[in-house]
Amino acid sequence: MDKVVIVTGATSGIGQETARYFAEKGASVLGLGRSKERGESLERSSKELLGSITFYQVDVGKENEVKKFVEEFKTTYEKVDVLFNNAGVADVAIGPLSRVSDDEWDRLFQTNLKSIYYMVNHCERLFNKNSAIVNNAAIVGTLKYPSALPAYSAAKAGVVALSKSLAIRYAKRKIRVNVISPGPIDTPLARKLYGSEEVFQTAFQQHPRGSFGSPLEIAKVVYFLSSEDASYINGHNLVVDGGYTLS
Ligand SMILES: NC(=O)c1ccc[n+]([C@@H]2O[C@H](COP(=O)([O-])OP(=O)(O)OC[C@H]3O[C@@H](n4cnc5c(N)ncnc54)[C@H](OP(=O)(O)O)[C@@H]3O)[C@@H](O)[C@H]2O)c1
Repeated sequence: MDKVVIVTGATSGIGQETARYFAEKGASVLGLGRSKERGESLERSSKELLGSITFYQVDVGKENEVKKFVEEFKTTYEKVDVLFNNAGVADVAIGPLSRVSDDEWDRLFQTNLKSIYYMVNHCERLFNKNSAIVNNAAIVGTLKYPSALPAYSAAKAGVVALSKSLAIRYAKRKIRVNVISPGPIDTPLARKLYGSEEVFQTAFQQHPRGSFGSPLEIAKVVYFLSSEDASYINGHNLVVDGGYTLS
């Protein structure tokens, strides 16, 4: 595989596993995140893989950093085959709306939604026929609306709508845009959200199948959606939750 794959939020959880999965298959992966320490560790851990992972320290919520990253990497890679917009936070703007500050609301939207606009816009010229974009939303964007996550849910609903709109915009250029809506996945973000190990374990076991999803189960879905096997899937919001939202 000679694909150039960008994964935002590659320094942890779903993004980290997805970056590794693509690199295992031989892709040249550019992994973005803010943590230099975790990014360098990811790079080191990819040395044995068929492909490669190169870490770029980028805050995707800041347009100037996204722009600088694209200008830098395009001199080497010249194209983007897959863009997985995955970076996200859930540890700000939690609680009833009255307790969400204006700044927190902005920070959450900047990272979870506006970053996709920055990434897509700055990468636009590097997409080719058969490029694929996959955006990471969540079930709370379209199926479930916890009262403690008003801003997070609203931003994720925005990710779904933005993805569908982009799918139409790029259809003629044969660039497909899909969105995934994962249910609970065992990552640092989810563990933090549940507050304590005890609460997390209770929720984990109450899942219809007896366990949350794993980051690898999401990585495989992203791989499929961005592959030729999914050539007729465009503008789709794929719920990946092991049946969590059925009851
Ligand atoms: N876990 C779940 O249950 C679940 C369910 C549905 C959807 N999701 C979505 O899945 C995505 C990944 O979440 P996860 O569960 O894997 O969480 P995670 O383990 O906390 O990973 C989040 C990643 O996003 C990166 N990130 C956060 N803010 C960033 C910024 N401003 N610029 C660049 N990178 C940034 C983090 O890297 P740095 O800290 O290095 O910046 C990290 O690599 C998120 O969009 C989340 O909303 C998660």
